Amino acid sequence: MARIVGAVATSHIPLIGKAIALGWQSDPAWKQFFDSYAPVHEWLRTVQPDVAVVVYNDHGLNFFLDKMPTFAIGAAAEYTNADEGWGLPVVRPFPGHPELSWHVIDSLVANEFDITSCQEMCVDHGFAVPMALLFGKDDRSIKTIPVCINTVQFPLPSPKRCYALGAAIAHAIESYPADARVVVLGTGGLSHQLEGERAGFINKPFDLMCCDAIADDVSELLRYSSRDLVREAGSQGVELLSWLVMRGAMLGPTTRKHFAYHGAVSNTAAAVMLLAP
Ligand code: DHB
Ligand code: FE
Repeated sequence: MARIVGAVATSHIPLIGKAIALGWQSDPAWKQFFDSYAPVHEWLRTVQPDVAVVVYNDHGLNFFLDKMPTFAIGAAAEYTNADEGWGLPVVRPFPGHPELSWHVIDSLVANEFDITSCQEMCVDHGFAVPMALLFGKDDRSIKTIPVCINTVQFPLPSPKRCYALGAAIAHAIESYPADARVVVLGTGGLSHQLEGERAGFINKPFDLMCCDAIADDVSELLRYSSRDLVREAGSQGVELLSWLVMRGAMLGPTTRKHFAYHGAVSNTAAAVMLLAP
């Protein structure tokens, strides 16, 4: 039987991808940031997941403003990376798990989540940077299932709906008859806004409130609308929706095993959180 061994949320800032590509991990400006991932690496070594469900938002690589699925899932044998404009080196394709993808898609549609299934999908920094951060930039041993949440163009899904999607993904995985140890990743956030009058906006109290809520009791946060999240966290801070999908996928008793918050990396409040039974 497949089972979810835990969940990790992390920012996906392109500058982190650049720092990894250029080997800046021990640079004094970066050491504290990269060191904060060590407990997650240690946990991954212990639980040895073989599949990562990567919940993130596409930034215009697959879906542009003309066609914008609210929720989309990959069902490909592999996912190629491309640079959608940040100048990051293109990395090797990531292996997929089509059989588990189709099982999740079938189960979601049966449970009235009318998601878009994608037999071809390119993955951008929202996927590739967290994979490099957690598994190393050249490791392709873990199979992946990308799940894209529209955080880009209104109307956006609600926090409550994203949480429910995570739970539905978890029920799907737990009904897969073959063995698989699955980790669910939520990428993006925390508060940031890259454009307009509020460019550079960061809301630390709101970020910390959200992280506590995700760890302890998410119910209040699920009463927010996605517009509330944009107001409180910025127009890209709404990437927090992927963290809510990740949280929803932890069905049983859950504890926050690790958490680190960094004031700002690039334009973004960056954080990493590990949830496990
Ligand atoms: C930055 C953050 C993001 O989430 C993103 O997708 C692109 C850039 C930034 O802080 O620079
Ligand atoms: Fe982003």
